[in-house]
Amino acid sequence: MKHKFNILHFETLPSSNDYAKNHRDGINTPAVIWCDQQTNGRGRFKRVWESNRDLTFSMLFHDDAPHHLLAPLSLICALSENDFDCKIKWPNDILYEGKKLCGILIEKVYEGNEKPYTIVGIGVNTTPPCESLSHKATWVPLPSSSLLSTILQRYEALQRLSLQELLKLYRSCNYLKGRKILQNGVLWDVSDISEEGYLLVCHDDVSATWKSEEVTLEHIY
Ligand code: BTN
Repeated sequence: MKHKFNILHFETLPSSNDYAKNHRDGINTPAVIWCDQQTNGRGRFKRVWESNRDLTFSMLFHDDAPHHLLAPLSLICALSENDFDCKIKWPNDILYEGKKLCGILIEKVYEGNEKPYTIVGIGVNTTPPCESLSHKATWVPLPSSSLLSTILQRYEALQRLSLQELLKLYRSCNYLKGRKILQNGVLWDVSDISEEGYLLVCHDDVSATWKSEEVTLEHIY
């Protein structure tokens, strides 16, 4: 693998995000905690993340890079190199042909005035989803190790770009662009994404800023 990440590989972990969080002080960053199987994988809003020998890993950083842009873009680039043309559904879902292919869970740990630790947990479906999820989830038949290697190489390359260049790339694969979202009975138009990764929406003369930890998008048109 040609990249600078410190790789820790496990057969089974409860959750690679939890491992990164609990062991952060003893791990040289940037690091990747990669496990073949998770027994207690977590998604956003404490949802369960089911995986069955799919690609599951967490990246641990101790910096202030814009990981909310770097993470989805590294997946988009790595998948596109493998001929899968995907979109980002804000904040961080990766969709292939309109169905969810990857999930990203970004968590930050603040300690005093130091730079925070950022844990970027990524799950990519590399085996078919169970029948009950097949209407909204999809998969790619790619070997986990080579896909991981490409993602890490793309991540490093993207880190050399400016914030404006990253935003431009994010906008070019924004699934929500030009769509409407029904939220609490109001139909919002999606305008843009901000530098901080907030979703900017408007309805008549009213504009609003949504933070990823505050909203789940239910009805998209
Ligand atoms: C989501 O779509 O809600 C985010 C899912 C993130 C799942 C990954 S799998 C590796 C890492 N470890 C976890 O427990 N969760 C993330």
